[in-house]
Amino acid sequence: MTPGATPSVTVAKHAGFCFGVRRATDALERELAEGGRTVCTLGRLIHNDVYNASLDARGVRCVCAEDLDAIFAECERGAAYTVVVRAHGEDDGVICRMKDAAERLESFRFLDCTCPYVDKVRRIARENSGERRLFILLGAADHPEVRGIMSCVRGEGLVFADSAELEAWIGENREKYRDFSVCLAAQTTQKLSEWKKSLKNIEKLYTKPIIFDTICNVTAERQTEAKTLASGSDAVIVIGSRSSSNTAKLYEVCRSVCERTYLVGDAGELDAASIAPFNKLSITAGASTPISVIREVERKMSENIENFEELLEQHDSVKTIKSGDVVTGIVSSIFPNEIHMDLGTKATGVVTKEQITDDPNAKLDEMFKIGDEFDVFVIKVSDIDGIATLSKKRVDSDKNWKDIAAAYESGEILEGRIMEAVKGGVIISVKENRVFIPASQTGIPRDGDLSALVGTTQRIKIIEVRADRRRAYGSIRVVAREERKAKEKAFWETVEEGMIFEGPVKSLTSYGAFVDLGGVDGMVHMSELSWTRIKHPSEVVKVGDVIKVFVKAVDRERGRISLGYKTEDTDPWVILNSKYATGDVANVKIVSLMPFGAFAEVVPGVDGLIHISQITDHKIEKPGDVLEVGQVVTAKITAIDQENRKISLSIRALMDPTVDLAPAEEAAPAEEAAPAEEAAPVEEAAPVEEAAPVEDAAPAEDAAPAEDAAPAEDAAPAEDAAPAEEAAK
Ligand code: F3S
Repeated sequence: MTPGATPSVTVAKHAGFCFGVRRATDALERELAEGGRTVCTLGRLIHNDVYNASLDARGVRCVCAEDLDAIFAECERGAAYTVVVRAHGEDDGVICRMKDAAERLESFRFLDCTCPYVDKVRRIARENSGERRLFILLGAADHPEVRGIMSCVRGEGLVFADSAELEAWIGENREKYRDFSVCLAAQTTQKLSEWKKSLKNIEKLYTKPIIFDTICNVTAERQTEAKTLASGSDAVIVIGSRSSSNTAKLYEVCRSVCERTYLVGDAGELDAASIAPFNKLSITAGASTPISVIREVERKMSENIENFEELLEQHDSVKTIKSGDVVTGIVSSIFPNEIHMDLGTKATGVVTKEQITDDPNAKLDEMFKIGDEFDVFVIKVSDIDGIATLSKKRVDSDKNWKDIAAAYESGEILEGRIMEAVKGGVIISVKENRVFIPASQTGIPRDGDLSALVGTTQRIKIIEVRADRRRAYGSIRVVAREERKAKEKAFWETVEEGMIFEGPVKSLTSYGAFVDLGGVDGMVHMSELSWTRIKHPSEVVKVGDVIKVFVKAVDRERGRISLGYKTEDTDPWVILNSKYATGDVANVKIVSLMPFGAFAEVVPGVDGLIHISQITDHKIEKPGDVLEVGQVVTAKITAIDQENRKISLSIRALMDPTVDLAPAEEAAPAEEAAPAEEAAPVEEAAPVEEAAPVEDAAPAEDAAPAEDAAPAEDAAPAEDAAPAEEAAK
């Protein structure tokens, strides 16, 4: 120690659990928290005795591949087991066995926590091996990660511990593998310097080797930082298990630049007195070292320097946090269901999605980016695994409470997600605050199912705030009512005759159908629904049908809208004219028989009259002598009265050539004598103009029906007047 200088203890930023190890430990913790299952790890989850002892104490069993059959057998008997595959990965065959078992046995679950970086090397081994392909891995042959990777090789695969071993092999096998395609990858924790040397060696043998630099960045960063720290220190402590590959390499790296490098498993192995005195001590740790162990070593060393208290104040790395604190963190990693934060302490801050937002569809990678800084509430701190469980919602809730109170004053509409149905109402989460909505304000009918709202997004107004108890009450109904009124106002300001709407049929009455035009209902009178005569609107539409209607009349004072549904395109008379002209022959269907003739349907909705004199070429007593209702006959269209919408037909004209030669109008004045108004064409039955406007319209039945207007029977039958056919004969 230099007299007068302040000794310092620096802990490397990259010391402790790496991403892959944390991922595995987190998964295991979640499984333990769920409870009800026997949780096992396939081999020790990490190389750390302190952590492993804590797992043993919590009943986690460490098993090997040979134990799996017994576990499957227990699951078959109903026991529930979870087997966790550690970050190193496992033999491919073992993973396949567990996958099969998980598909077969409901109570067996396996969590493959193979680190994604390791998984990548396994994939490379699988894809770059096979016939005349050689896969080479630089790593420790007996390391579980390496054994797992090599189990994925499909053909020839070799493992070399270092560049020297590789070089020696190349010397002996240069010829044998000359025609092979060679792929080189590395164990994720391989030393960078060895990797670089190996690349040079492999290129001596092959001009185009396939190279995959699979050294994990975390390892590389840890080694680089350790080397920098060590080169500026007069002593270095590397903490980690002696069986951990990355710890061993870390030790080697530090030792290469600082002679006083010590490897310890935990604070108990530390001979602090022999390490001191020092001016600058650095501490680093392997990827499996829990933060609690690192802090204990740090504390012990710091106690050995005089101004420890002062150092404690200055040094970020010994800053502590506790439950209930609000601290500022920086986003360091983003995952689909959680983000990690650097809190300026050795504990990693973890904020799960549930502690960020109530929106299950929110995407954390869209909400945050690495480096974002914000305040979080500390829920709990675990020294064993070095995790601080945080909540962003809690801080946001505090901040946003004043927005809720302000919304009450201003009447602002807020949006949130219904969290749960409770006694007497539902709870909505608004700006991370829970707001109670009484059942009467939900818009759900009395005795309705409030749980139907759970999970939906709703717009509310705050209708009451109790600041002393920090409680707020909201209403969905008020918003709905106001929005409906605004919609209605906008509708009445813009609606005009002739406008076309598409809307659902909301209800039917005996005189028409009510259609929702978007907040305001209009009515289609029965006479406007169809060109043919109908007895009830249900013959044309039913409730729920979405139909296109046009505005026939607007009564703003009474708030009524008359709608039309039938259009020119569907007018049977228009259809008739598009198909037939006078003189054409048509197949017509007899629809009714009268003493003076028969009515026949020419097109749906248009009937024509076959006068008794035009039914046949000889005299008959009545139409029923030769015709019957429903019969289809061929008739000639002898006259179309466009003005009065009437049609005269003749069967006889097709039998008697002399009649056929003369136009029907001339040949059969009888039809003139028996005008078609007697036939009561449908379209005259209830003219649109005569229909009472909309809601207060007289039901169609009340309107003078066509047949009442001019019953054909009441008219003087043609025969009585002057039997034209006689004259024509
Ligand atoms: Fe994975 Fe790298 Fe850790 S490979 S297990 S993140 S050291």
